Amino acid sequence: MKAVKEKSLSIVIKGLSKTFSEDALKAVYVLKDVDLTIQRGEFYILLGPSGCGKSTLLNMIAGFLDKTDGQLDIYGENANRGTNRGFVFQSADSALFPWLTVEENVEFGLKMKKVPLEERKKMVHSYIELAGLSGHHHKFPSEISGGMKQRVQLARVLSNNPDILLMDEPFGALDAMTRRTMQKELIRIWQETNKTVIFVTHDIQEALMLGQRIGIMSVGPSSKITSTYEIDLPYPREITSPDFNHYYKIVQSHFD
Ligand SMILES: Nc1ncnc2c1ncn2[C@@H]1O[C@H](COP(=O)(O)OP(=O)(O)OP(=O)(O)O)[C@@H](O)[C@H]1O
Ligand SMILES: [Mg+2]
Repeated sequence: MKAVKEKSLSIVIKGLSKTFSEDALKAVYVLKDVDLTIQRGEFYILLGPSGCGKSTLLNMIAGFLDKTDGQLDIYGENANRGTNRGFVFQSADSALFPWLTVEENVEFGLKMKKVPLEERKKMVHSYIELAGLSGHHHKFPSEISGGMKQRVQLARVLSNNPDILLMDEPFGALDAMTRRTMQKELIRIWQETNKTVIFVTHDIQEALMLGQRIGIMSVGPSSKITSTYEIDLPYPREITSPDFNHYYKIVQSHFD
């Protein structure tokens, strides 16, 4: 009998390194020997100071950037092909088409994939609802707030039904109250869709509000994940709770 090889359902990163320089002898490594395994369905946070290489690592997981050395497998396949990944950028302004309405922006990828009209409309409707955009579908990006634009970006990414959501400081440009709302919404969407989420932030509070696990990256160059914390707190999390504060102190101590 032929053995069936089981498809791995994790993201496996081992000894991963990245340099942007072409001269191997003078190479400065942004990332050096990064080790990380993320299970399917997990909500994982990459936390680190500005310039340490968070975006570089996320872009490599997305397949936008090539690795220099090491292993980067996504569900058993090389990162430059395979598993469907969706990327949410920090600024929705550069990600959305200003001449298309909310609905048309969400519909864009489905149209490209030639999903039939009726099915497409149904999907767009459900993702607009999921992202909390009901009633705003005919507005243009210039007519909605920053938080709403991020919702549109999220709805558009979700409509392509990616297995993995990659989010690079997606709420960084929002005011504190909107950010809090978006964090809660993201947790709701994650719980409803069971997607794997890798979320980049340099905000400790945000990391603790969202993550099941937090990987802390060291200051670059040659940055790597130096500590990982499992955050054993139920959702929605309460910033003012003693447990939250307990984790906050531990994580904060890495940046003192
Ligand atoms: N295309 C590139 N060419 C050369 N160097 C780059 C390139 N992209 C990033 N770098 C360098 O790699 C390092 C890490 O950058 P990266 O954008 O990944 O950091 P980050 O942790 O995302 O920072 P921030 O929190 O400010 O977004 C920086 O020193 C940056 O200058
Ligand atoms: Mg970045």
